[in-house]
Parts: sequence; structure tokens; C-alpha cells
Amino acid sequence: MIFRQLFDPVSSTYSYLLASRRGGEALVIDPVLDKVDRYLKLMEELDLRLVKAIDTHLHADHITGLGALRDRTRCVTVMGEQSKVDVVSMRVGDGDRLTVEGLDLEAFYTPGHTDDSYCFMFGDRIFTGDTLLIRGTGRTDFQNGDSRAQYESLQRLMRLPEETLVFPGHDYKGDTVSTIGEEKRFNPRLKVRNAEEYSAMMESLHLPNPKMMDVAVPANMHQGLHQEEVARRGWAYSADEAKGLIGRADVALIDLREKAERGRAGAIPGSLHAPYADLQDNIGEGGLIHELALSGKTIVFYCAFGERSAMAVQAAQDKGLASARHIEGGMAAWRKARGETR
Ligand SMILES: [Fe+2]
Repeated sequence: MIFRQLFDPVSSTYSYLLASRRGGEALVIDPVLDKVDRYLKLMEELDLRLVKAIDTHLHADHITGLGALRDRTRCVTVMGEQSKVDVVSMRVGDGDRLTVEGLDLEAFYTPGHTDDSYCFMFGDRIFTGDTLLIRGTGRTDFQNGDSRAQYESLQRLMRLPEETLVFPGHDYKGDTVSTIGEEKRFNPRLKVRNAEEYSAMMESLHLPNPKMMDVAVPANMHQGLHQEEVARRGWAYSADEAKGLIGRADVALIDLREKAERGRAGAIPGSLHAPYADLQDNIGEGGLIHELALSGKTIVFYCAFGERSAMAVQAAQDKGLASARHIEGGMAAWRKARGETR
């Protein structure tokens, strides 16, 4: 396994790079915009292909690298389903698995620091974002923070095996890793008897707002730009327009989502499943989508929110598949337009 803990000294943020092997697929957790060049160089050096970039929550203290990584690698951007960030390409809920080649992370919904906070468990370790820090916990006084909810989230983490490694989203003292057992014994924030005591302690902190907050929060809310550009070029159907495409012999509807997302939200009748991760093979010479386009069909991609499909349209157009289109807003827009699902 390849595992790197990367540090941004400006915001004291830890970002994590994970892959199962050299030459394989990689994912990044909590990337920082200013460090994107560094991540890309490292991935090039390790011969890794970035396929997913994840934020554990909406950050207030640094600008996320999600949008820049997506633009430069066409990776899928991931956050929790509670996130209000305008467009991320994939959302996870509690208990969902997050996969790349050879790796499988479990998503834990852990509200408290924010209402969109997640932790990600991977084998012997957990990435705790700002829910659990080393000898500390994330503040709960803004961004829909809730100290009682955080207490419950922390209780859940404390039920993990004691030897579980804790990799936090920040550290301000230079510590890099801890364990659940160590935090249970030595974390002063966990020396309370119940949610009321925790809440009273958190209220007594009176922390100043993070320096970057007024810049970072609005910037992090708006990560979706691809769809506007794709629409401007005339490569988009609205969900309403797309209803007229069902059952047409000259149209191939292509679902780019992962299997678990299809199971949860349903799919458009008659659509083919060709996950985004396999896109390059599918649109290349001899690939399924390439063949469909050659046979004269209009290719219409869709996904959960229109982000992956917008990137797929661009990639297919780059390969000369001039009939490639997508459904703007994806399944979210399709449902709003009361489109049929199966
Ligand atoms: Fe945070």
C-alpha cells in the first residue's frame, strides 16, 4: 500500500494520499488548493492516477483542492450527502463504501464540527477530519456545528478497536498520528461524563474565527464549473428535454455512476451502465461507447449531479466523438423533473 500524510503549514492541515500499488489508482483526502502542484508531482513520481478527491467536510480554514484536482485530472470529487457545496460529483452517506482500485473505505457520518462532517475508516486506521483531533476535537461554534451531536459522534469513534490509528484533519502542535485507545485515555475533551458536560466545555472555549473563514467558506461552496461550459457549447440536455430521449433507437443513454449509487437512487430506463472509472477505456478505440458513437448513436451521459457527465462529454469530444452530450444536473435534476426511474 502507498500512504502519504501531507502537511499544509499555513492552515496546519493534513491531507492524505492513498493507493494500493505503484501504477494504480489513488485517492486524496482533504487536499489544500495551494498544495495541488505538490500532490500532482508526487503522484507522477509514484506513478499514480488520481481518481477520487474527498473532503471530510466544508472547510473554513483553507480553500479546498477538490476543484483544481478535478480540473487537472478529471477525478471524481466526493463529499457527504449533507454537504451544501454546489456541485460535487459524488455524495456518500453513513455506511457507504468509497472505493478505488484495491482500496475500500467506509464512510461514517459524524456530525458535530459541521453538519456535513464525515470520518473514513480504512483497515487499521481512521481519517477523522475535524471530528477527533490528537488530544483535541474540532470546534462546534459555527457552520451548523453542534456540540451534542459531536459528543455522540465521538462516542461512536471510541467504540472502535483501541489500536485503530487516528489520522486527523489538522494538528497545531506537530503530532501526526494517535490511536483510539490513546485518545480515550489522554484526550482532555473526552474527560466528560455526558453530552451536557461536553457541550458546556465547548461553549466555554470562545475561540476567534479562523483567519481564512470569510474567504474559504464561500470559495469552498462553489466547486462546480464544468457544466456551464459544456452547456455553453451546446452539449447539454435539460432533464425535461432528456425525457424525450428514452426509448429512441438513435440515442444511447450512459449511466456513469457506481453500482451502489444506482442501487440507491435508481436509473433511467433503458440506460447502459458504464462507470466513470472505466471511461477512458470505453471511449477509446474499440470501447463500448466508441462503438456506439460509430454506429451513429447520440451518446448521452448522465450521473448523480451532472459533474462526472460533463467531464465525460469533454473527454469524449476530445476523442472525436462529436455526438457526445449529457443531462445537466444528472439524476438530481431528473428526479426534480419527475423523470421515470427503474
Ligand atoms: Fe474544519
